[in-house]
Amino acid sequence: MLKIGVLVSGRGSNLQAIIDGVESRKIYASIELVISDNPDAYALQRCKRHGIRHSVLRRKDFSSKDEFEEALAENLKEKGVELVVLAGFMRILGKSFLRHFPNKVINIHPSLIPAFQGLHAQRQAVEFGVKVSGCTVHIVDESVDAGPVIVQAVVPLLPDDTEESLSERILSYEHRVLPQTVQWFAEGRVEVDGRKVIVRGAEYGTLPVNPRLEKF
Ligand code: GAR
Repeated sequence: MLKIGVLVSGRGSNLQAIIDGVESRKIYASIELVISDNPDAYALQRCKRHGIRHSVLRRKDFSSKDEFEEALAENLKEKGVELVVLAGFMRILGKSFLRHFPNKVINIHPSLIPAFQGLHAQRQAVEFGVKVSGCTVHIVDESVDAGPVIVQAVVPLLPDDTEESLSERILSYEHRVLPQTVQWFAEGRVEVDGRKVIVRGAEYGTLPVNPRLEKF
């Protein structure tokens, strides 16, 4: 069974989606450790409720970013973690961390990257006036929200959307694509070749258009 570690900073609804997937045996993985960089993260309550091992590592308790990252990696490796899932982890990880888990760190981002990277992706989408946005699960490299894409879900924007309403609509897809990706890793089906990621045996399909086309 694939051993995973999850890094969080806040609410942890994506962590919850993974917990639910593991508990319902849709995901053949075990959550070995959850680490939060924020002691007040609600995600930690979820761990307590589900009996999941968790700890807090605060950046400010380390004298450098490198030391913080080495400690993160050490804690995960100690538990035998093979795949690291960033689920609302709001820090940029560098080489000191990533070198321990090559092509084995994944992140969920609430936009169709490379659009709307960084903070407040949903607000950026509403303000730009795009007609579709969505979410992306990607391999984490040293870029910010720009590593090789594993899967993207397209979500339409509606004329009255606010940052909140769009965030909610995108989130319901985040809770599907992230657990699915973990399961693809558990099945050993994710192949990374430079920027190109293929999920072996997956069905690659068509794209929706929003608004709907009428004459063509
Ligand atoms: C999610 O929307 C996730 O996509 C986003 O933070 C939220 C965390 O929610 N992540 C990023 O913006 C990363 N750049 P959660 O704590 O309820 O899972």
